Amino acid sequence: MHSKDIISMFDVNATTIWKIFKLTDSLIQKRKSGDDYAPLKGKSVALIFQKPSTRTKVSFEVGIWQLGGNPIYLAPEEVGFGTRESIPDIARVLSRYTSAIVARTFSHEDIEALAKFATVPVISGLSDMFHPCQILADIYTIWKHKGSIVDVNLVYVGDGSNNVCHSLIVGCAIMGMNISIATPLSYPPDKSILEKAKDIALKTGSKIEIFEEPSQAALGADVLYTDVWTSMGQEKESEDRKKKFEGYQINKTLIDLAKKDCLIMHCLPAHRGEEITNEAIEGPGSIVFEQAENRLHVQKGILVFLMC
Ligand code: CP
Ligand code: NVA
Repeated sequence: MHSKDIISMFDVNATTIWKIFKLTDSLIQKRKSGDDYAPLKGKSVALIFQKPSTRTKVSFEVGIWQLGGNPIYLAPEEVGFGTRESIPDIARVLSRYTSAIVARTFSHEDIEALAKFATVPVISGLSDMFHPCQILADIYTIWKHKGSIVDVNLVYVGDGSNNVCHSLIVGCAIMGMNISIATPLSYPPDKSILEKAKDIALKTGSKIEIFEEPSQAALGADVLYTDVWTSMGQEKESEDRKKKFEGYQINKTLIDLAKKDCLIMHCLPAHRGEEITNEAIEGPGSIVFEQAENRLHVQKGILVFLMC
């Protein structure tokens, strides 16, 4: 029995993740062979977004459509989370019309409330604490490139306290990957997420390390990963963050410290010249656009896993 929802990385375990990856592979194969597999025929999925999105919105809409379902996008001004209507009421009403809900929220408590009151699966399209669909697609992408996941050394450079970093920590712990985080001392990962991930890591053999200095973390990296210094909702802190995160950048100097075949990853959108150089994102090790494409494939796997 698996969780009804995927709203945090703690809703999945290694068995779940491998099942989703196998489904992803078979869905890619079906589409390549021209099989019009439509398991979501007659089903609608609500997409509630409180923040802007390119990849998450489009990849879910296209994925639902490719599986024969009907995506219904609700923009921030339409739903009025907790202002026009309470979250429990939205959850209960949408559960009577649709077969699943994808939600991008500011606060993680909001998506937790949605999942609690919805009777259909709720999938996170990002909250301030987690971005599970992103990280599942990232791990899938690493697996496809490296052929194995265990013992991969992933180095994350940037904001240690954001949704992408939190999800990577837990995802690596679950899958037995090693993760080193290079982040300023004032932006550490959430304590409770880190503690829970360390408990998981004890069982899987994953190593979780935190560094202040990117050059120390990058030594021997198989994957260098970064994300924006300022996440959505933190725009007022942008100037201050630019000063605090200076030097937390994937660039040639850092890449030279990593393994020769090191992969460069970024969840996008990227701010070239801040957390990553143009040269790094366009360089030979970069897999960022394949990473973005895999959002579509893996989310189709997630939809079939939770809904069928
Ligand atoms: N990576 C990602 O989630 O992109 P969007 O914010 O464009 O959806
Ligand atoms: N940390 C970023 C991720 C964007 C996909 C944000 O929350 O804005």
